[in-house]
Amino acid sequence: MFEDITRVSQMAKVALQKNPNVINATIGVLLDDNGDILYSNVFDSIIPTLTPKEKYPYEDVLGSKDINDNLLKFLKQEKFNEKEHFNMVTSGGTGALSNVISAFRKNAGLIVSDLCWVNYLTIARNFGVDTYSYELFKNEGFNLEGFKKALEQAVLEKDNVLVIINTPSQNPTGYDISNEEMKAITDIVNGCVKENKKITVILDIAYYNFGLNQNLDAFLELDENVVLAIAYSFSKSFGIYGFRLGSLTLVGKGVKEYEKLFYTQSRTKWSNPNKLGCSVLGKVLSNDESVEKVYQEIAEHMAILENKTTIFKEALKKNNIKTFPFTNGFFLSIPVENAEDVALELSKNDVYLTTVAGGIRVAISGVPSTRLEELAEKIAKVINK
Ligand SMILES: Cc1ncc(COP(=O)(O)O)c(C=O)c1O
Repeated sequence: MFEDITRVSQMAKVALQKNPNVINATIGVLLDDNGDILYSNVFDSIIPTLTPKEKYPYEDVLGSKDINDNLLKFLKQEKFNEKEHFNMVTSGGTGALSNVISAFRKNAGLIVSDLCWVNYLTIARNFGVDTYSYELFKNEGFNLEGFKKALEQAVLEKDNVLVIINTPSQNPTGYDISNEEMKAITDIVNGCVKENKKITVILDIAYYNFGLNQNLDAFLELDENVVLAIAYSFSKSFGIYGFRLGSLTLVGKGVKEYEKLFYTQSRTKWSNPNKLGCSVLGKVLSNDESVEKVYQEIAEHMAILENKTTIFKEALKKNNIKTFPFTNGFFLSIPVENAEDVALELSKNDVYLTTVAGGIRVAISGVPSTRLEELAEKIAKVINK
């Protein structure tokens, strides 16, 4: 039950209404110590200046030119401009992921790590795509061997092979894949390229701006027959979760041919992205000064998150609690046996969190810094019982 994020998060909300001592460590939203969302003031201050024409008509299905033309520059990933590619605005990062999986779902297999965002599995199931899982970690690093095995198996059995790589700040562990590991992943994928088999690498960079390793250069070396799909979320970097703004960049030989296919994916799911949100975002992304200011805001939010992380890591150490490999980010995960029992016991002690493969996930992003020591102590009490 505790693996169901929406359900546990709802339980936490209800419990918090009755009892202010409840700690809600379920949600992937960055909050300040008063429980308020940390959002971009640059984005927010543009909203009241919009004219009706910038708010109320339908947006283009693939999103506005101002966003699509400036996206890779905003992400500081302009090197991908040199390859054949196209950008589109999606309904959050979720929309980007869903579009890729649904577009390439025919006899498809999706390679995921055991520790992953569970919505990948839900999307795959929804489109009838089988999943191939491997253990994420081996010897405190990315499990290249396990990844290779799962990929080879999928290539044997499926026509469409989809690989999801979530970095930096992986959900649920906060792990950043290193440059060497990325290079090795790219080599493994390139080694699996075969005629009549289509491989797509989905790079989920939802937490990109909160990661310490934002270098994606290794993926420039993917074989030209492999499609690279970069799924980004403005929810996290701008703190605009409810606007549902994300983007998808498809890179690779011949990808322009897919524009119509992807147009249809969006058209049949959310039809067109949020006009008001696109108008504001377009104004930000097409203005260097605004982009600079947004990066300053992100740096401030990052400092708040890092302060929380430092406090929590220190408290975990004091309480002898080990985590899965962690670099930075909204979440970290703690290996435990009987995760479901641990989560249930914690909920009886006013702590709500979710379970993951072989452990529990703590969303430090949503917990006030003043409650993090208490949180670590409560976890220790239950784990060490
Ligand atoms: C790993 C990961 N990818 C993608 C997303 C999608 O985010 P959104 O649809 O809000 O942009 C999330 C959201 O929690 C996530 O954790």
